[in-house]
Amino acid sequence: MLTKKILLGVTGSIAAYKAADLIRRLRKDGYFVQVIMTQSAKEFITSLTLQALSGNPVLENMWDVSEGNGMEHISLSRGADLILIAPASANFIAKIANGIADDLLSNLCLARNCPLLVAPAMNMEMFSNNATQRNLATIKNDGVLVSGPDQGDQACGEIGMGRLINIESLMLDIRKSTSDLPFKGKKILVSTGATVEKIDEARAITNLSSGLMGFCLASAAYEFGAEVTVINGVSSYNIPSCIKTINAHNHSEMHEAVNNHIKNNDIYISVAAISDFKPIASEGKIKKNNEKITLDLLPTQDILGSVGKDKGNTFLVGFAAESSNLISNAKHKLISKNIDIVIGNLISQSMGKSSAEVVIIDKESETRFPNAEKSELSKTILMHIHKIYLKEKTDEPIN
Ligand SMILES: Cc1cc2nc3c(=O)[nH]c(=O)nc-3n(C[C@H](O)[C@H](O)[C@H](O)COP(=O)(O)O)c2cc1C
Repeated sequence: MLTKKILLGVTGSIAAYKAADLIRRLRKDGYFVQVIMTQSAKEFITSLTLQALSGNPVLENMWDVSEGNGMEHISLSRGADLILIAPASANFIAKIANGIADDLLSNLCLARNCPLLVAPAMNMEMFSNNATQRNLATIKNDGVLVSGPDQGDQACGEIGMGRLINIESLMLDIRKSTSDLPFKGKKILVSTGATVEKIDEARAITNLSSGLMGFCLASAAYEFGAEVTVINGVSSYNIPSCIKTINAHNHSEMHEAVNNHIKNNDIYISVAAISDFKPIASEGKIKKNNEKITLDLLPTQDILGSVGKDKGNTFLVGFAAESSNLISNAKHKLISKNIDIVIGNLISQSMGKSSAEVVIIDKESETRFPNAEKSELSKTILMHIHKIYLKEKTDEPIN
């Protein structure tokens, strides 16, 4: 994979210190980072810190001939994959909206030939001010991408909309800004995590699904341009706030959420490990008396199977986690549930692990994918889904 080059513009926001963490994260993910600071940004964080973390001299003055070839305000964006302004001050957004070019960073934005992604960070009143809202609408209309802001505690002590977006969501928007967007215009619903069923007032049964595969698939689908909705069971992973998330902790909440959202989506990927059985929950807490007790479990309704009976135009992808006879069980699931793709995996090799090995089965083919980290495997799986989805939709007779 070729290293992607990001020009990171840091402006005069109190959130400028977060640029240090962002640079570390970008470099960890393999990006080449060139930092450009405004004069105001230097009041909040030193160029030395950002230079040390990025591994490159920080640029800030277009009149300083020692900073390069003298034409950095134009040449820097040539060969860059993205200009990212994080944090972006209200003042800087106003400059981009109006084509003002009075320092190195604003010149760079005006003379760019690569995508521009802006992450606003400011006081809630500054953000909701009509002028800022007008400027944001203008830059979006001009094709500038905007990430965030988040809602929450502000440095000034107020609580509201205007915080710099959290780093996980920002990283997704950065990857999305430099992706080919194969799922642009498509809506994808992902159910993920485990469900929990009550035994009594204090106890419950669940399963060992960590939610990682669904987290990775939802993130990759977002990066690939889809509008993603996640139905999140009990999971060890927080879905980034830029992805719409519905919490559903037990079978019946999961069922209701899937029913409410499925028709609105082009693709439904069912990764959640939903309880196949549930106890008849006792009132209060079952008392311990040192005797063996028996737990009666009732079967739950098969959500994917019921969706498959009336799937309309929604393309259905199911997961089959098996302990043996993987291929035959997965094929049976594909046919009996009337789904379009089934992704088979052995529980011993995938559940609760950071990597997995899968076989993807559709009506015509069976493709094996070797063991890989779920963060990478999810992208491979999505590209395979994309291929089969396109084929199926193109082969459909036109009414
Ligand atoms: C302590 C302090 C904190 C500030 N925080 C922010 C902020 O978070 N967001 C913002 O848009 N402006 C903030 N400002 C105002 C900007 O620094 C000011 O508008 C500056 O001109 C921006 O310059 P630049 O856009 O060239 O970086 C702050 C000012 C001060 C004094």
